[in-house]
Amino acid sequence: MMNVLGIETSCDETSVAVVAGGRKLLSNVTASSLKFHSRHGGIIPEIAFRMQLETIVGVAQDAVRDSKLSLKDIGLIAVTSEPGLLGSLVVGVSFAKALALSLKVPLIGVNHLHSHIYANFLDAEPVQLPFIGLIVSGGHTSLYHVHGFNRITSVGHTVDDACGEAFDKVAKILRLGYPGGPVIERLAATGDPGRYPLKCALADRPYDFSFSGIKTAVLYLSKHEKMSMRFKRDVAASFQKAVAGTLIKKTLAAAKARNVKRIAVGGGVAANSYLRQEFLRAVSREGLQVYFPPKSLCLDNAAMVAGMGYRLYREGLRSGLDLEVNLN
Ligand code: KG4
Ligand code: ZN
Repeated sequence: MMNVLGIETSCDETSVAVVAGGRKLLSNVTASSLKFHSRHGGIIPEIAFRMQLETIVGVAQDAVRDSKLSLKDIGLIAVTSEPGLLGSLVVGVSFAKALALSLKVPLIGVNHLHSHIYANFLDAEPVQLPFIGLIVSGGHTSLYHVHGFNRITSVGHTVDDACGEAFDKVAKILRLGYPGGPVIERLAATGDPGRYPLKCALADRPYDFSFSGIKTAVLYLSKHEKMSMRFKRDVAASFQKAVAGTLIKKTLAAAKARNVKRIAVGGGVAANSYLRQEFLRAVSREGLQVYFPPKSLCLDNAAMVAGMGYRLYREGLRSGLDLEVNLN
């Protein structure tokens, strides 16, 4: 079984993992500079990049040590090369190139969003192809038709804010801190989802998403009401319900239109318990199946990069030492 060392540095996490045979996690170590960004209410690229430079070597040493292997047991280096923040991506890709060169093993660049879909295949039974992939992260919201790991076609995407970004912005309006997803989920659990008639705008195309209108609606609400805990809880619940509703409706519509029976969700927002539960309920009514990675693998991590890299390698893909980063 081939051992792949994966590297993920596209945003504020610095993560290195060792995965055997594309499925079995031997180690997955992640350092995050999140606490340094929180007070700014969002990620500051310069801070993320500097922290990554400082931590990458230590994180990689920990990941190799935790795997109980040594560097000579690694057969492939997989690294996120797109999309992401320029400085952050460059740290991971440069480190990956140096490691591949010194160990004399092949290198493969991986798309971060595709690897979020791959998180569903780690330590789990593989989802049968083809399926619809829904990525809901802090920077992206996209629907894909997945025919194979080297055959992923785009079905739709957000026309404005990303889904996680909407959680973050609403949390900022409600003065709940950053990141917004987990705290909104927590407050929503005791809020009344029927109190405010919040809705996500319908984008022009059936499988596209729009989240900026609902954020503005929350902003108006908060100008006219007292910022009590009751208000925050009810807005959180109404907002979360509207967002989950639109994600589920459009994903199911895309699956039906393409006659696909399975859906795999990934990205930070896929950790949301309400979304998971509502999705399960909706697909069972329709005779479809939905898959989620374990919550710990929904957020940015290198295990999904190692797994995805292994699959692409098996399909014959390789990157050269001239591998470039791509921001989009
Ligand atoms: O995938 P991810 O770790 O990073 C990107 O690639 O962007 O996603 C981070 C995003 C943040 O916007 C965060 O607020 C959101 O995922 N998030 C959640 C939850 N946990 C994280 N959103 C809703 N509910 C959650 N439980
Ligand atoms: Zn991500």
